[in-house]
Amino acid sequence: MSRSAHPAGPRHADVLPEGHYTAPADDLNALDPKVWAHTVGRDADGVVTVGGLPVTQLAEEYGTPAYVLDEADFRDRARAWRTAFGADADVFYAGKAFLSRAVVRWLDEEGLNLDVCSGGELATALAAGMAAERIAFHGNNKSPEEIERAVRAGVGRIVLDSFQEIVRVAHIAQSLGKRQRVQIRITVGVEAHTHEFIATAHEDQKFGIPLAGGQAAEAVRRALQLDGLEVIGIHSHIGSQIFDMSGFEVAAHRVVGLLKDIRDEHGVELPEIDLGGGLGIAYTSDDDPREPHEIAKALTEIVTRECEAARLATPRISVEPGRAIVGPTAFTLYEVGTVKPLDGLRTYVSVDGGMSDNIRTALYDAEYSVALVSRTSDAEPMLVRVVGKHCESGDIVVKDAFLPGDLAPGDLIAVPATGAYCRSMASNYNHALRPPVVAVRDGAARVIVRRETEEDLLRLDVG
Ligand code: LLP
Repeated sequence: MSRSAHPAGPRHADVLPEGHYTAPADDLNALDPKVWAHTVGRDADGVVTVGGLPVTQLAEEYGTPAYVLDEADFRDRARAWRTAFGADADVFYAGKAFLSRAVVRWLDEEGLNLDVCSGGELATALAAGMAAERIAFHGNNKSPEEIERAVRAGVGRIVLDSFQEIVRVAHIAQSLGKRQRVQIRITVGVEAHTHEFIATAHEDQKFGIPLAGGQAAEAVRRALQLDGLEVIGIHSHIGSQIFDMSGFEVAAHRVVGLLKDIRDEHGVELPEIDLGGGLGIAYTSDDDPREPHEIAKALTEIVTRECEAARLATPRISVEPGRAIVGPTAFTLYEVGTVKPLDGLRTYVSVDGGMSDNIRTALYDAEYSVALVSRTSDAEPMLVRVVGKHCESGDIVVKDAFLPGDLAPGDLIAVPATGAYCRSMASNYNHALRPPVVAVRDGAARVIVRRETEEDLLRLDVG
């Protein structure tokens, strides 16, 4: 991101302060299709609509803050991934990005599988009727109860993350008279170009078993000896919000290298590899994500080429996109409560939510866009920081952005691309009530996750 040039025309501040912002768009009323869900537009009155419904009506009916999710867009993106990878590969939607029973049913209908990483996600998937064999179970410290539940349910694969877990899963499966299909998650030693907290393929971190030093080979050696396990493949997830395909190339190269070593040592060709998720989306107009068909082509070509060179049959590939499917499909709708200009600095715009519904800005320094959505405005752009209502100055939703200078309390603003890791990481900080998720499609809206109530909070507080 570049620091803006001083924009032309009269401004709120004569000199713009330091910050990571680009110059305001020529037309602040325009909605960049890169960051907004597919069906978003403005009606004749200038009100933003989604799924054929004006946001003013949604705010009236469901209140603010609210996550508004474009179901048609979600299905389009899920289908695009499915189609891009074709019948010889599997797409597992990563439920950690956002999971609800409605979402599970949409995925089921669109032919995707599901990656879950906790007992709660597994319960949601099963409650929505997802066939267990289409579920992959992840996690670096699954409890024995979680493992038993997954094995009993008959999940299609458990992704093993440590030496202890290899033994634990084998033992549980055997005691239930089952043979569990498993993949072994390895770290391939790639430094993914993303925030430290969401990079997962370098060796110094908690996930996976390092390829380095022969540890991954040793894990495979042990797993192959255990009757309770059927080792179906190797798993690698290099991190999240990645745009550059080169990390995946290196990962694929190293995973195939391990398959070759396994073939040479054990005479076994493992039939599957999983290259994880992590594909980036556009949070601002500066981001340029790849399309699913480009990603599918690139990954398939790399794996095929590497396998040919190693004289291995090409394994079945699976991927686990979460953010790339759900991220762009939702925005958070807020009502402006206060507008506080600070001379020579910026204007603080307080909304009725904050870090409890979007922790990503505080946690990862994530960048977001924002727009006035209840009307249009021709007022001059002003540099704003959109903040929440929590008792913490780090409670920032959008760090640096431009909104029209006549913004006032009661206006509705929306932050796009909040479909992934916002509701799923929402908290009750300050006893905030977590917002609902309202799905819209073809002129109809329905709540798929309702707003929390004070009774919900008090029910947990047993007095
Ligand atoms: N597969 C595995 C094994 C993963 O650990 C993850 C994400 C995914 C797939 C999906 O990654 P995606 O395509 O959604 O990037 N809370 C962070 C992201 C943490 C991701 C953890 N694992 C954020 O808000 O950016």
